Amino acid sequence: MSIACVDWREARGADLAQCYAREIRRWSAELGWDTASSWDQIEFGRRVGTLPGLLALDAHGAVLGWTFYLLHRGILQLGGFVSNSADVTDTLVDGLFASKTAARAESVTVFAFTEAPGLTEQLSSRGLSVGTYEYLVNPLTGPDTDRQSSRGLSVRDSLRPWRSGDVQGMAALLRVAYPGADAVRPFAPKGTPEEWREYVGQLVHAGGCGTLMADACAVHEDTPGNMSGVVLVTRLSPETAHIAQLAVDPRDRGRGLGRRLVDAACVAARGAGCTRMTLLVESRNVTARRLYEAAGFRMRAQFVSAGGRVSPGHRLAQSPAHGAASHNT
Ligand SMILES: CC(C)(COP(=O)(O)OP(=O)(O)OC[C@H]1O[C@@H](n2cnc3c(N)ncnc32)[C@H](O)[C@@H]1OP(=O)(O)O)[C@@H](O)C(=O)NCCC(=O)NCCS
Repeated sequence: MSIACVDWREARGADLAQCYAREIRRWSAELGWDTASSWDQIEFGRRVGTLPGLLALDAHGAVLGWTFYLLHRGILQLGGFVSNSADVTDTLVDGLFASKTAARAESVTVFAFTEAPGLTEQLSSRGLSVGTYEYLVNPLTGPDTDRQSSRGLSVRDSLRPWRSGDVQGMAALLRVAYPGADAVRPFAPKGTPEEWREYVGQLVHAGGCGTLMADACAVHEDTPGNMSGVVLVTRLSPETAHIAQLAVDPRDRGRGLGRRLVDAACVAARGAGCTRMTLLVESRNVTARRLYEAAGFRMRAQFVSAGGRVSPGHRLAQSPAHGAASHNT
């Protein structure tokens, strides 16, 4: 089958509207995540031409797959990836790496809720480090939350709510909690202070990962003004709260602070009317996964996470197996 790869900015809005509608349904049904307003912003970027992307089309012009991406501080960030076959995946990844945007990138990060066949293999073959994030869900009803609630008063002991001036302190804590660079990490992959500040600022202000629930967040200070533990909670939909970040200073670990922060967040989210708490955890993060399992979280879905440098050889790689590609993004 011949597959054409075209710039999505030249496509009809109606074709994209169907693509977004499918994703809105999938994110809502499988993750409880209300993404409608994010797709509005993405469509705006596509229409005004600032958000590049690719469509894979069959000979009749039907959409077989699509992806979009942007360049930020030299990092090509993939925003989504939909494909129905390994051939379509290959075509889109080839198009992505051959794009003008990729030619200007030093590195790539991928973080996608996708079932695209062959994506992991394609990204690995481009020299990227590939990992998996698990999407965990905890229904905020039943015995686990009842136990959390019965400990509720002690849980919030020595914890304080989030304050608007906490961005800098949290960025500093994350930098020691996640030491160094990690290409698979979808946030602050280089681990620089600027990346951490920007990441926390986005969580708190930008709404890309839900809207901040300041009253469900909790902060622990080991000395006044020095944050040594934090749980940051957002709301993804009226029913769904999300632990967007959890971190404890390495010097304070192994004494139950992480669990107390998670319990405090769950109790507060339930008090705010949410019926479930969700979060994303990297598969390799055994400590955090054990903590979440003990607190009642169970796996619901998986995300692909990848990153690494773009080498010139990889950039130019083209698959001759596919039909004419006209990508120029
Ligand atoms: C994950 C993280 C927040 C855990 O923080 P923590 O304060 O060490 O968590 P806890 O103390 O509640 O639990 C950790 C371990 O200590 C044990 N523990 C808890 N209280 C204890 C106590 N009083 N005495 C001995 N051990 C104890 C727990 O049983 C758990 O052990 P286990 O993994 O063998 O089950 C921390 O490791 C961290 O910041 N990691 C880096 C950031 C990160 O990965 N965040 C999660 C993102 S999804």
